[in-house]
Amino acid sequence: MRLGVNVDHVATVRQARRTFEPSPVFAALIAQQAGADQITLHLREDRRHIQDRDLELIKELVKIPVNLEMAPTEEMRSIALRVRPDRVTLVPERREEITTEGGLDVASSKEKLKEFIKPIKEAGIEVSLFIDPEEEQVRASKEVGADAVELHTGNYANFWNEHRFGEAEEELRRIERAGRLARDLGLKVYAGHGLTYHNVKGILRLRDVIEELNIGHSIVANAVIFGFERAVREMIEILKGEKS
Ligand code: PXP
Repeated sequence: MRLGVNVDHVATVRQARRTFEPSPVFAALIAQQAGADQITLHLREDRRHIQDRDLELIKELVKIPVNLEMAPTEEMRSIALRVRPDRVTLVPERREEITTEGGLDVASSKEKLKEFIKPIKEAGIEVSLFIDPEEEQVRASKEVGADAVELHTGNYANFWNEHRFGEAEEELRRIERAGRLARDLGLKVYAGHGLTYHNVKGILRLRDVIEELNIGHSIVANAVIFGFERAVREMIEILKGEKS
């Protein structure tokens, strides 16, 4: 399975101080160096983490594919058509949510989405729709002309994290069924949301259906922890005058 590294929450830490560090652009380059297959970033309407300039710099500097997650709004479409990421993933967005809370309801806005997607595809940008693992949503995604679907793994992850393994297994089966249907319809199949170093192991069983995972929060969270000791040691060295 390919890995798309979502760098949003590097920017979340930066925006806590509206300063210059840590930079999601730098993180994207390190992810590329470490072997990531893709950089994923979500430019939210409220710009709570990624800023327009981050997107521009990442597109300019990173050589692996760039996947822009965005809400289906006119503003975002004009940014996508200007910056030209390799892929646009359409996600629902509500201002008050902490994170994306569910898939896009493609089935109830087919005509609108079909029109929205057309110029993006014409610009040579792949279009993926972030949907719940439901047959109706998969079929609607095909009808509106998407190239791919990203199946929402948030419910699976939540069940797993709460040790409700029976329900996690049922959710995994739903993801598998939706993934197989999408593949049979000729759509590419990706997945993501809420995946961690632990719960991702269940998803690996679907490697013949899902070709790519997009993972963000858990990687950023672990980067903070893995790097904390070194960061403290380096500050102590500076305070001791051992390092300039
Ligand atoms: N895929 C999509 C469509 C998302 O919206 C997000 C979160 O921005 C992710 C994957 C990554 O989720 P997480 O940060 O929980 O790994």
